[in-house]
Amino acid sequence: MSGHGTPIPMISTACGPLKGVADVPGDKSISHRSLILGAMAVGETVVTGLLEGEDVLDTAKAMRAFGAEVTRDEDGTWHVHGVGVGGFSEPDQVVDCGNSGTGVRLIMGAAATTPIAVTYTGDASLNKRPMARVTDPLALFGCQAVGRSGGRLPMTLVGAEDPVPVRYTVPVPSAQVKSAVLLAGLNAPGQTVVIEKEATRDHTERMLAGFGAEITTQDTEEGRVITLTGRPELKPQTIAVPRDPSSAAFPVCAALITPGSDVLIPGIGLNPTRAGLFYTLQDMGADLTFENMREEGGEPVADLRAKYSPDMKGIDVPPERAASMIDEYPVLSVVAANATGVTNMTGVKELRVKESDRIEAMASGLRACGVTVEDGPDWWRVSGMGPGNVPGGATCASHLDHRIAMSFMVLGMSTKDPVRVDDGQPIATSFPIFEPLMAELGADIRREG
Ligand code: S3P
Repeated sequence: MSGHGTPIPMISTACGPLKGVADVPGDKSISHRSLILGAMAVGETVVTGLLEGEDVLDTAKAMRAFGAEVTRDEDGTWHVHGVGVGGFSEPDQVVDCGNSGTGVRLIMGAAATTPIAVTYTGDASLNKRPMARVTDPLALFGCQAVGRSGGRLPMTLVGAEDPVPVRYTVPVPSAQVKSAVLLAGLNAPGQTVVIEKEATRDHTERMLAGFGAEITTQDTEEGRVITLTGRPELKPQTIAVPRDPSSAAFPVCAALITPGSDVLIPGIGLNPTRAGLFYTLQDMGADLTFENMREEGGEPVADLRAKYSPDMKGIDVPPERAASMIDEYPVLSVVAANATGVTNMTGVKELRVKESDRIEAMASGLRACGVTVEDGPDWWRVSGMGPGNVPGGATCASHLDHRIAMSFMVLGMSTKDPVRVDDGQPIATSFPIFEPLMAELGADIRREG
């Protein structure tokens, strides 16, 4: 759980070249799903490379509360003894998902078609985020929800006694909503169909197929049509979680803007529904290459090599790429500030309802550091100042948002004066080894106070 302790102010100061190998942690999306699907299978799922960040640990705790046995070996191997589809028992306490929108929304889906009453809560950030986008489609299965005004947590969901299958077109590009509906569909008889107009990350579909569910995906004029046959017996799996491209984004972007850098980031998942940032950086002229392309556990994987790139140019980021890099816009804006020319980011309304309003959070911090940023409801535009020309010198608010905190720490590596964040505590939700990993590469990021 983040946001409950004393704030941790942090400072990042321009540093020498970043050099070496950055072993970033496991993928957050796949880690949540490994625990949830493992808990819904019959038998023992074994997971290696699980991200041991607070978000995922909160999901592990939740799965225990629903009756699954979740244990960790000393070497970091996790075991999940699942209770089967429809086998969740009613937790006897409130389920606290901390900072994690993915955790709470996927778990709500997974429990929505089992007749149990569950009360969910989270930290101050999560309790501000919209949940109706999930509870509306779950109501179609017969699940009832009562929460605070505006569909906010804390919220109680009573799962359907006699669930019916659902056909649902997701109104916003959201893998969390799609996944919540699919997980609910597991315990509904017949076929549940989810249609998404824009393809979002497809880990749930891939992993459900891996666990033995009958699931098909078709690209049609209507969009991507995903059909799941309910009431399968999910077979336990052995899962090696690939490293997280969203975490890799930080050392990659830091290397691109820090003079003399040359960093290797091995084993990064390059699922096309996740890799948009890397193609965008290449379009800007970044010296970023994919080495040793291979497939691991059904996902494309490569070693990324990022070198200092003083000739990057601002671009119009294609809006159709937004879903595949939605978590990476904050750190992209830091690179954009160090590029020459304007970077336009459009079709990004969803950024306003993440752990924070990420457009507002980055725009105000960048402006305080001397960068010109304009923004509207679903777009923003950063005027690049050229490599190393951002003044810096401000304290930026992280708004309980890990990616905002890490983005400003990356910014400080290239600014004339150091950049501070008021609270680096949320970094532990997704990237608990961020500070030692960056220090090892040569960054100067410290805690203050
Ligand atoms: C995630 C989906 C995305 C992303 C989040 C992880 C997931 O959220 O921002 O970090 O694992 O399904 P949305 O579904 O809200 O786009």
